[in-house]
Amino acid sequence: MTDKHLQHVFPKASRYDPAWVRKHSMGENVLLNLESLTKSLHLKPGMRVLDLGCGKAISSIFLAKEFGVTVWAVDEAISASANYERILQEGCEDKVIPIEADARSLPFADEYFDAIIVVDSYTYFGTDEKYLPYIARFLKPDGHIALVDVCFTKEIETLEQVPEFLKEDYQNYWYFIHAIDWWRKLWEKTGLVQIQEACQLAEAALVRNEYIRDYAEEKKPDPFAKALQLDNEGFITFFKLIGRRTQKTAYLQSYKASPKK
Ligand SMILES: C[S@@+](CC[C@H](N)C(=O)[O-])C[C@H]1O[C@@H](n2cnc3c(N)ncnc32)[C@H](O)[C@@H]1O
Repeated sequence: MTDKHLQHVFPKASRYDPAWVRKHSMGENVLLNLESLTKSLHLKPGMRVLDLGCGKAISSIFLAKEFGVTVWAVDEAISASANYERILQEGCEDKVIPIEADARSLPFADEYFDAIIVVDSYTYFGTDEKYLPYIARFLKPDGHIALVDVCFTKEIETLEQVPEFLKEDYQNYWYFIHAIDWWRKLWEKTGLVQIQEACQLAEAALVRNEYIRDYAEEKKPDPFAKALQLDNEGFITFFKLIGRRTQKTAYLQSYKASPKK
């Protein structure tokens, strides 16, 4: 891909130093994923955004700079201090608040956020059927939850259906990856969000090629890059899922986790 093509498809993300973005992306190029996702969102200055599983928080910095939103950058494994240093270096300390917390135990008030954005992190916690009912409480009515992540083009229901090239690694790295329809049903059946988008990223091929290129340069073993290289038929791809919060109250079996109303 030429730099010109990249700039055309990702005008915002390509303004950032590629070496800085690569260094601080924990999977695919986080800013390409995020810019693709934000094309479907209507973020406005002053909105409150939760960047969940933000990793090294460059997605939060991007959201603050590009859209003027205030971002709570939450990750359980990357320290708030390390992220705060990056936030300071980028002059975003008034707009980005770093927090070290588990996505399953968040310190926020109900109905606090206009949007919850999750880049390449939702599969770590969000395959639990009770996760959307948990996280939905933090969204304002009509607020959006939006994620971008890796998916399969076809759901794998049994081990016999695992494609040959994935067999060796499937039970370690891939058993929690699903097709878009699986995600759509997981969210739809709760009634807590109305699905606005559930589709492959229009830019999936670019995201994929950039990832393979970045990791070829790194020369580190990476099961994800390995699978993408072996995947001649495009079985693995990238998707976005966006839901708008409905009026329905979330019911959780856990007494402690029920909305405090
Ligand atoms: C693949 S990385 C993606 C990070 C970043 N969004 C990016 O694209 O560079 C997944 C991130 O999710 C975070 N994560 C996983 N489980 C989590 C949890 N239960 N609570 C908060 N963060 C979690 C990890 O610490 C990691 O930083």
